Formats: sequence, C-alpha cells, structure tokens
Amino acid sequence: MVGQLLGNPVGILDMSCGVKFSLIFVLLRVLFTDSSHSNQVVLLDTTAVLGELGWKTYPMNGWDAITEMDEHNRPIHTFQVCHVMEPNQNNWLRSNWISREAAQKIYVELRFTLRDCNSIPWVSGTCKETFNLFYMETDESHAIKFKPGQYTKIDTIAADESFTQMDLGDRILKLNTEVREVGPITKKGFYLAFQDIGACIALVSVRVYYKKCPFTFRNLATFPDTIPRVDSSSLVEVRGACVKNAEERDTPKLYCGADGDWLVPLGRCVCSVGYEELDGTCLACRPGFYKAFSGNIKCSKCPPHSFSYEESSPLCHCEKGFFRAEKDPPTMACTRPPSPPRNVIFNINETSLFLEWSPPSDTGGRKDLTYNVLCKKCGADPRQCELCGGDLRFVPRPQGLINASVTVLDFTAHANYTFEIESLNGVSELSSFPRPVAAITISTDQGGPSLVGMVRKDWASQNSIALSWQEPEQPTLPVLDYEIKYYEKEHEQLSYSSTRTKAPSVIITGLKPSTRYIFHVRARTSAGYSSYSPKFEYETGDETSDMAADQGQVLVIVTAAVGGFTLLVILTLFFLITGRCQWYIKAKMKSEEKRRAHYQNGHIPFPGIKTYIDPDTYEDPTQAVHEFAKEIDPSRIRIERVIGAGEFGEVCSGRLRTPGKREIPVAIKTLKGGYVERQRRDFLREASIMGQFDHPNIIRLEGVVTKSRPVMIVVEYMENGSLDSFLRKHDGHFTVIQLVGMLRGIASGMKYLSDMGYVHRDLAARNILVNSNLVCKVSDFGLSRVLEDDPEAAYTTSGGKIPIRWTAPEAIAYRKFSSASDAWSYGIVMWEVMSYGERPYWEMSNQDVILSIEEGYRLPAPMGCPVALHQLMLHCWQKERGLRPKFTDIVSFLDKLIRNPSSLLTLVEDIQGLPESPGDVPEYPMFISIGDWLDSIKMSQYKNNFMAAGYTTLDSVSTMSIEDVRRIGVTLIGHQRRIVSSIQTLRLQLLHVQEKGFHV
Ligand code: ADE
Repeated sequence: MVGQLLGNPVGILDMSCGVKFSLIFVLLRVLFTDSSHSNQVVLLDTTAVLGELGWKTYPMNGWDAITEMDEHNRPIHTFQVCHVMEPNQNNWLRSNWISREAAQKIYVELRFTLRDCNSIPWVSGTCKETFNLFYMETDESHAIKFKPGQYTKIDTIAADESFTQMDLGDRILKLNTEVREVGPITKKGFYLAFQDIGACIALVSVRVYYKKCPFTFRNLATFPDTIPRVDSSSLVEVRGACVKNAEERDTPKLYCGADGDWLVPLGRCVCSVGYEELDGTCLACRPGFYKAFSGNIKCSKCPPHSFSYEESSPLCHCEKGFFRAEKDPPTMACTRPPSPPRNVIFNINETSLFLEWSPPSDTGGRKDLTYNVLCKKCGADPRQCELCGGDLRFVPRPQGLINASVTVLDFTAHANYTFEIESLNGVSELSSFPRPVAAITISTDQGGPSLVGMVRKDWASQNSIALSWQEPEQPTLPVLDYEIKYYEKEHEQLSYSSTRTKAPSVIITGLKPSTRYIFHVRARTSAGYSSYSPKFEYETGDETSDMAADQGQVLVIVTAAVGGFTLLVILTLFFLITGRCQWYIKAKMKSEEKRRAHYQNGHIPFPGIKTYIDPDTYEDPTQAVHEFAKEIDPSRIRIERVIGAGEFGEVCSGRLRTPGKREIPVAIKTLKGGYVERQRRDFLREASIMGQFDHPNIIRLEGVVTKSRPVMIVVEYMENGSLDSFLRKHDGHFTVIQLVGMLRGIASGMKYLSDMGYVHRDLAARNILVNSNLVCKVSDFGLSRVLEDDPEAAYTTSGGKIPIRWTAPEAIAYRKFSSASDAWSYGIVMWEVMSYGERPYWEMSNQDVILSIEEGYRLPAPMGCPVALHQLMLHCWQKERGLRPKFTDIVSFLDKLIRNPSSLLTLVEDIQGLPESPGDVPEYPMFISIGDWLDSIKMSQYKNNFMAAGYTTLDSVSTMSIEDVRRIGVTLIGHQRRIVSSIQTLRLQLLHVQEKGFHV
C-alpha cells in the first residue's frame, strides 16, 4: 500500500519525503525518551515497543504499518494512510487491548503529520485534513472482532494551524502533538481506534497514560501513590505515615490534585525521644547524648554528672552519688545532697537562744537549700541524750528553714542542749547516705551568774547615752571585755545592736532622740560570756538636753564673744574718733544687717568663724564682688592652656604673678564675649561666694578681672582635676587610709562651710578638685546657679533643677536644703570615693532612685569598703535629717579612724551574714532593718507580724508574695498592696545589687 503510494507518479509522498519522515522520527525519539513525567503512569507508548505492534487495520489496505530502525537499532513504529485521491475513505486502525490498571481517566497523546490538501497537486475535493479518534472499554483482554459501531468517538483530530513548514526552500511536514482525556474508565481495559476519511496522515507515536500523585516524603511522613479524582475540581485527601522513629505531631496530610501534583501539606511528624532529624529521617542519638522530648530538636550532650551508654537514649543516668529530683528537668545536671552547715554560732539571753550558721560549702549544685534543726537534751553523759520535748519553740520553725538562722524560745535553764543542724536540698531524700550534721552544744547556764550588776546612765544627749557599771569584785577569771546589747524599747524584737568595751563604761552614739532604749551588759572572760545583767531602760534626750550637755562649750563661746565684741567696740570708737573710713563703716553696717537677716534664717554663727553673706542680698552685685574678691591686673595673668569648658566660657590653666612673690599656677575661668548683664552677675556670683572662704579644703580665690575683657575668675590650680574622673583614672590605686584622708579633707571643708552657714547644694565628687598632694578641695559655688550648670541636675516635679542621686529626700521633695542635706550628699561622695568613681545607683533611673530611697533602700557598701565607712554613709543617709551626723562629727569620726587604722580592717564583705555589726566601730549601727523599711512605707504596725513569721532580713522579705503578706496577718487590701509594691522595688534593687556583686 505504502509502496504504491511511494511509487505514485503523482508523487504525493515520494521517496525523499519518506526519508525526511525517518529523520524526524530519530529526532523525536530523543525528545520522547528525554522527557520525564514522574506523575504519569504510561499504559502504552508505541515508541517503546520493541517488537511488532500487532495493530489491526480495516480494510487491510487502508492504514499502512511501517517499522524502521533508528541508529540504536530500535524499531520506530509508524502508521501511514494517504488515499486523498479516492472518495469515500473509511480506513480504521485499532490498537491492541490496553489495560486500564488504576486509571480512572486516561490521556491519549498522538504525534502525527498531516499534509494539507493544498500542498498536494491535482487533489480533488476528496482530500481531508482530519481524522477521528475512538475508544471502546472492555474487560476482555483477548482480541475481539472489530466492530466500528461499538466504538465511542473521543474527538476529531486536526493538525494545528500550519500543517507544513519550509526547510531550505523545501517543504517538510510539521509534527503535531495532540492530547485527549478520556474518562471515567471503569472496565479493565480499552481499545483505541483511528478513523481516516481521506487524509494524508503519518501517525508517528501514540502514548497512553494516566496521572497519579507519586509516592513522596513530606515533614517526616510518607504519602503513597495516589490516583487523582476524575472530577478535576475535587482533591483526594491523603494521610501520611510517619517515617521510622517519628511520631505524629499533627496528622500529616496532603491533597492529590487532578494533575498529579501534591497540594496543601498539613500537619507533620517529629522524631521520637532518643532520635533526631537528619535529611528527612530520624537517627538515633549517639552514646553520651540524649533527647528527652519528641520534636525536631537535636540530641543534647548529657548534662554534668550524668551519662548515657546506649544509642537513642531518652535520658542520661546520674553518676553514682548524684541524683535527679522528681521535678528536675532532664536537661538539668544531676545534683547531690549538700554538705553540712558550717560555723554554727549562738547568742543566748534569758529568754531566747539565737542560732546562726554559714551555708554549706557545697550546695550539691542546687538552689533549693533548706535546713532542719534537731534539738537533743543531754544529761551529764553526752551519750544519753533524748529529743527535746515539745515545750521548746523554734521561730520561725525547726524544719524547712530557708534562712541560716533560728531562734529558740522556752528552753529550760541549767540544761545542756545539743542542736544538730542539717542542710537539705531537693535530692537529699534520694540519697541513702546518712546526712552529715553540724552540731553545737549549749549550756543554758553557760555564763554562770552575771558578773555585771547595776548599769547606770551617766548622761544622755539627743543621740548618745553614756553608761557605766561596777567592775566585778574579785572575779575568778579576769574580764577581757564587756558586751553591751541595746535596742529601741518599742522595736524590741526587730533588731538590736551591740558594742564592746574594755572599760566598765561606754558612750553609745547614733541613737534616736527622745527614744527609750533597753541596755544589758555581759562580761567576757577566758571561759566565755557571763549571763547578761538585768535589762536597764534609759531614754535619750531631746534638743534641750544637748544644750545642757554643751553648756561648758557655750560658756567658752560666750566668753570669746564678749571679748570679741569689746575689741570691736574699741576699734569702732577708734575709727570714729579719727573720722576716717566712713564708707567702710557704712558698708560694714550694711553687711552686718545682711548677716543679721541671715541668722534669722536659722543659722547660728560659730564664734570666731565668719558668716557667709549671700551676694544676692547686695543691690549691686559688683559691690559684692569687690567686697570679697581682689581685682587683678590682667597683665599679671599668663594664660597657657584651655583645660575645660564651663557654662560661661573656657577654663584655662596659666600663671599668676604677684609682685614680690613667686609666680603661682592658677586656673582661670573666663566669661565669653557677648554676655548679657545677668550672665555677668551670675558668673561673678561664684567669685563673691568663694572670696568669703579661706580654708585649706576650699578652693582659693586669687582674684577677679572685671575692669577689662574678658572678665575672669582666677583660682588656685588643682593639678589632678576633678575627683570623680581622677578616681576613675586611678581605679584601685590608693590605700584605704589615702581614701579616708581625701574624705577627711572634704568633710573638713564642708564643716568650714556649714559653720559659716553656707549650704553647698551640689556636693558631689565631680565638684571636688584634687591637687598634686591628693588634697581635696570643695569647689563649684553659686547656689542655684551651680545647678543650672550641673549636667547631673534634673528637673523635679516641683520644677527645681536638682542632682537627684546626690540630694537628700527633703531637698528633692520640698527644697529643704541645709547642712543636713549637704551631709546626705557627703555620704554619696563617700560612696563615690570608696567605689573609685562609680555612678551612685548605677544606671537606675532618677525616678527609681527617689522611689527606692523613699522605701528605705540605701546604697550597699562598695567592694572592699570598711564597715566603719559604710556605717558612716548610712548614718548620713538617715531619712530624718536631724539624725544625720554634723560635719564636725564626721571629721572627728574620720580622724579617729585615721588614728586607729585597724578599725578600717573589717570590710563589709567580712561581716556579711553576721547578726550584728562588730564591736570595733559601734558608733554607727546599721539601720536598714525590716523596721526601718516598714517605717519608710508607713506600715510600722506590721513589724511584729513580720518578725513572728520569721522574716528577719530584707532578703527574705524580698521573696514574699501577696499570699505570704496576707498569711502573716496583713488583712487590709490597701496595706497588702502598699507592702507588695514596695517588696517588688526591693526585689529589683536586691537583684541589681547582686548582679553588681555588692551585698546589702
Ligand atoms: N578645673 C576647674 N577648676 C580647676 C582648677 N582650679 N584646677 C584645675 N582644674 C580645674
């Protein structure tokens, strides 16, 4: 048939044309075999059939089957038909039976060429350009007789727009690809049939396939091959199965789309405990690693003191002697019971026995440390001990103690008690080893009779009481020293202080005025302490009592004043008689008036010390400058360098020549040009103030230049600049004595100022200058002006500009500036000095500083700070300004410390945890107690509640919740709120302090 066609003289399909077909097929095979269709399941591909296809043609001479070999010797099956010249063509070509397999819908892809009738010369109207595609479903797989009527038409297939394309001017046929969908197919298989009705066709390949969503892994789940629905708008929901060693987190799901694509992944699987994910699988954790939870996290190394020998361990086992408490997470290191408490000490009086100990050296690696105290009462034979009866009371309780102390009440006199204290933590119960204890045996008559009888009050002032007593007559052992214990009568249970003395007398200072105190004294011999003397109750004096105490001093002052006045009268008479210096007298009278006005403001002048005069009281400020400052001829000044910038202009260093004297180094403050009168007055105000002072610890004014430009203030030069930056630059370089020397200098300067009635208002390390001999001098004077100049000064709610961190609460709250508020600032300067220029209250905000001061918090001791100095600071920071030390007290206290350097050896770090301050420096008792804190928040009425419930330190209070506050008996909601809110601040502060490495 084909041969006929090829030999056709009309040349419809000539030989060369046949060759061209073959070339195209080779090309196509490459195309076919290279294309991958992972989501297609091929049911038939004529290009892949190696043997005969065995398709049937009806009539026999209609379609022609041609099989040629490609260059790989594989057959190329082609069917051709071309009876274009003959009318009424009806040529059928039928495939073999094709199994449907899982398909519901099949796709038939045809590749063919079709000659367009116009390209064939002399063809008549019989030429067609389409053919028809049919199918028939059947379960019968063996060949059945072909009956065209049994076939269902799928479609009429036409070539696409251009049938042919040109190749080098020659006409070649274009390969068409057409795909048709058939379905749903329900029988086991089907036949395809091609009907030619008079076209010239070469059917190059037939591919039949169906689509599926192929097996896949997604989110650690596998999804099987899935056949899409026939209805292309609905998806098949497929549930995935977790891979080995994985478990469902949320049901893993995918949806199979009509085109064989997986859509919408939902849910997932995760690797089980002991397994970790790697490249879509779950691998076992290696020995030494574990994974305690399912999830896509990695295996972790065993925590300290634990191990795992096997693969895929969900947990690591604890090493011998180490344990994990029930609630410990598997990530936590294994821990062990703590070592016993250390250094048990006691303090006993007639009614209570206070036991205290240091925490164990080894906490076992845990934080849940508690203590149990067991009491045994022993007779003469220490082996015959019995448990103490229920009469004994432990405050707060005998077991589960959080703090390392307990108070024992209601014990019997003349008995021996042994207290065994054990430390416990969350794994103590798990250990089978006996728990080591720290034991102490206490005899309740250990001191024997009191060696001290009557304790007398010799005198009392506002803040001090002097006591004395009879030394014991013929004691069996010599008395080494005496211990005096005292506390406010009202706050008996809250806190007490103690001090020691070798002599049978003591002066106790730092007491509150008009307050009743309880004192009792015991003696210490080489055999230990005696019992305490009975309690003695004495009251401190009020203001009048101090006056009485000072009577002697007053007498001296009066005598001096009378003498001075007499001298003044004589001199005045002399001047009057000589009729000279009228102006001087007037000026003096005027300043005396001012001075009088000043006294009326509350300042009582010190005899022999001038009184400060506020330059603002002068109508003409220039007059004030000239009264207090020397005018310097600018030719005597040589400016050398600019050393800083002040608010009004540059600060320079230079030299000042004075005729007949050596040239001296000076600092020169200049007033920059373009100033207004007010600025000039403000600038010179500082000179008017400084010029009134003459003290080695106050910066000395050399003079002013006001009559020429620039206006200048010339002061002595301080080689080391300001104290704060000097200390920061030399962090840790000085001995404590050197630091105390600096503080003593500042205190002495401040004493001078306060004696003159001058209130500095901006005392801070930045306003102290240091010379080459480490002498510190107070500088920066100017009253309110200095605050404008000070970068630390912030506006308060009342509108004032105040350096909050350095300023006393009453000065912040209602601008009550006084020497007492300067004393507060001095305490802060002490803290700055001892911490080598650390910023007070670190980075806390001003608001938080105010709040925390209000709630009783005070700066902790800087590292390495002697107790005595921190106590002095705390004394300066008393809320009640009248209780703060006067600068004269401060100077003499520091002098004492300098004279007795061993008093500076006890550092705050050394005494932390001890119940009371050491006897060496008793003058300044610590006042940050629960009592003070409650006073500060006006909740003093609850002091007993806190004590009774065992909250004895601010540390323990800081852990309290609102329930705890309720439980101890604070029933009013407003009070609960106030206390809890203050506890929160307290907690923050303690945390802050701990982070900084300081301790309260
Ligand atoms: N900066 C400000 N005043 C100073 C002074 N008197 N000496 C050195 N530096 C200073």
